[in-house]
Amino acid sequence: MVRLRGAASEAVVDLSYGVPVIVYWGSPLSEDGEWSNAKMIDPLPQRGPSIPVAPISVVPEHGSGFAGRPGLLGCRPSGRDWASRFHPASHFLHYPTTVTSSGGGLRGDDASSGGGLGGDDTSSGGGLGGDAASSGGGQRGDADNGAAVRLVSVAHDDIARLDIVTKIELGDALSVRVELTNACDHEPYLLHGLSVTLPIPRRASELQLFSGRWARELHPVRVPWHHGSHTVENRRGRTSHEHPPLVFAGTPGFGEWNGSVWGAHLAWSGNHALLAERLADGRRYLQFSELLHPGEIVLEPGASYVSPEVVAVCSDAGLTAATQQFHRRLRRRPSHPRLPRPVLFNTWEAVYFDHDLHRLRALADRAERIGTELFVLDDGWFGSRRDDTSSLGDWTVSRDAHPAGLRPLIEHVRGLGMRFGIWVEPEMISPDSDLYRCHPQWAMTTDGHEPVTMRHQLVLDLARPDAYDHVLERLDALLSDYDISYLKWDMNRDHIAAAGADGAAGTHAQTVAVYQMMDELHKRHPHVEIESCASGGARIDHEILRYTTRVWTSDCNDPLERQTIQRGASMLIPPEMMGAHIGPARSHTTGRHSDLAFRAATAFFGHLGVECDLMDLDEDDLDDLRAAIDAHRRLRPLLHSGDVVRFDTEDAYIAHGVYSPDRSEAVVSFAAIATASSATPPRLRLPGLDSAVRYRLDSLQLFAQDRRSQRGAPALPVGLAMRGDDLGRIGMPIPSLDPQTALLVYLHADDEVNPQPELAP
Ligand code: GLA
Repeated sequence: MVRLRGAASEAVVDLSYGVPVIVYWGSPLSEDGEWSNAKMIDPLPQRGPSIPVAPISVVPEHGSGFAGRPGLLGCRPSGRDWASRFHPASHFLHYPTTVTSSGGGLRGDDASSGGGLGGDDTSSGGGLGGDAASSGGGQRGDADNGAAVRLVSVAHDDIARLDIVTKIELGDALSVRVELTNACDHEPYLLHGLSVTLPIPRRASELQLFSGRWARELHPVRVPWHHGSHTVENRRGRTSHEHPPLVFAGTPGFGEWNGSVWGAHLAWSGNHALLAERLADGRRYLQFSELLHPGEIVLEPGASYVSPEVVAVCSDAGLTAATQQFHRRLRRRPSHPRLPRPVLFNTWEAVYFDHDLHRLRALADRAERIGTELFVLDDGWFGSRRDDTSSLGDWTVSRDAHPAGLRPLIEHVRGLGMRFGIWVEPEMISPDSDLYRCHPQWAMTTDGHEPVTMRHQLVLDLARPDAYDHVLERLDALLSDYDISYLKWDMNRDHIAAAGADGAAGTHAQTVAVYQMMDELHKRHPHVEIESCASGGARIDHEILRYTTRVWTSDCNDPLERQTIQRGASMLIPPEMMGAHIGPARSHTTGRHSDLAFRAATAFFGHLGVECDLMDLDEDDLDDLRAAIDAHRRLRPLLHSGDVVRFDTEDAYIAHGVYSPDRSEAVVSFAAIATASSATPPRLRLPGLDSAVRYRLDSLQLFAQDRRSQRGAPALPVGLAMRGDDLGRIGMPIPSLDPQTALLVYLHADDEVNPQPELAP
């Protein structure tokens, strides 16, 4: 038995079976308690045939009597070796302060499998063979400042000739991944699936899953988890709008600040499967894997496959505390974006494909005037792409749209003191493109079948070295030839029968190739940031965020929709990674009108951008926009480093905020998204502030009044002050709000009682 202690949770792992069994994972156990009691002795069912109560290991086995879905699915070409049974071989623990070496196999966070799963963590574990030490007695690893303690365990099945290495890491969050090796020297192993399974306490009888579609991503959905299983399968070849790989299980009625919660995320940008099952004996588990198509992974003798990482969080104080663990984990990575995040202007909804130097320069002038710091030229600058029917793959500047090349625009933007970014979609090929005319075989299609197109485009097979080299060379040239420091990397088509060069399913290899190419570009151009976009938010996961610093959360800039989308996204990623744009008054995706005050208040917390035709705005509009951006720039150090908090309130409202880690200040938003059944809103209770501190509550008026609607932003009475404990118990008063308005409040420890520094200008 091994005891692992993380920053906010603890796991007890039993190593005696074969593949490790996590017998306890939850709030820290007492120091002097009998923690080995965590090993549950499950009672046998009362009557009937004796049914083995097989443990729910990280890779549970049908061969040991586990009646749920086995963690390993596969067999030899003959059909043999399909019911594996592993026995323990060795294990070792890495403590954060002593990890120095690196070795092969499943290495730290940069484990490689059939192509590098690149990583940026500084430490990596030792080689898995020679120096593995087995140990019988209890051991304990303490996390150092959230840095993870790591347990690596090796198990063999000598009959099936398979090895499994399990890596369990506990720091800010729990991280688990497994590696399967075909130890047979003459037969391949056909791998159908390798999952990570986490047992969940029986009292967690409610699930929170996420639904989504284009322009309506990450909507939380609650379902009871009574019996049987919930299955989510994603075959879209990207993380997907429809099935974000994220689930929470909790005690009945768990909320943002109440209930016990266990959450899991699969850090992977290709296909995936999630199973949440309650077994007939009452036990529960969550299981995540990469979804493999038939024949997609064939392990030749000696070859290995490493599962994507499952990142998991838990809390006895509700969802907010649990999801902060996801944020802390991302923020600790060396690749996490440096602050401050530049406010950006994106050209898409301003000009679409209508590129004209004169107009783009005028937009840049206005973008600079309102205070944006990065100008992103979206789709339409290359090949002969005047609409979305052609040219993906032809990554050369369009002489038609930009007769003098990109330099006049870039120099203009740089001259205004802004950085320059550009849109690309490297994984795609248009049938109407020079690239396709030269290399039709580079498209991921099935010979003989008419391909199903989507947005008139096909997937380009980056697992082919020639195609990969071609695209890498084109992107490298773009970044070398021009002063570009930001790539918006888009991906607008599902994988549909996406076959590799040999005709077999190619999504796994493609996903790995995308990571590799991003990694290679970072090596060649270390100053270039990449944004992850996939028709909006179809690629939001912790693995793509190793290589990218921001996600395009949704193509929908309608603030009413965005309130919910961003709330869902905040359960996985911190605000500094969440692209949030102030769009036009009339949303291009919903047709709905909204005031600038509401649009700005909604985008305010994220990585802020502006995406609308600035030429439509008059001087007063531009001043208002400038004022909102200035307010964001003043507060972004807090917004982008503080603890994200969400609050439960009545259905007509959405409330969330950010607390500074020392609890000296906070920003809170209370938005009305519908007409409420009650005439007045409820008070908003703000748990988790410093109970002894007296806070001043100042309305954040981003600008004086929305001139178009003649509406002022909602406000609190001037001079309001309350103690932290009262804010948690009684709550702050909320004025009556019209739908599509938001109250923003800045709370800070009262200067008279607790002297505070001035807000940075
Ligand atoms: C996708 C993106 C948009 C925009 C267009 C360009 O839909 O999500 O933001 O970049 O492609 O074609």
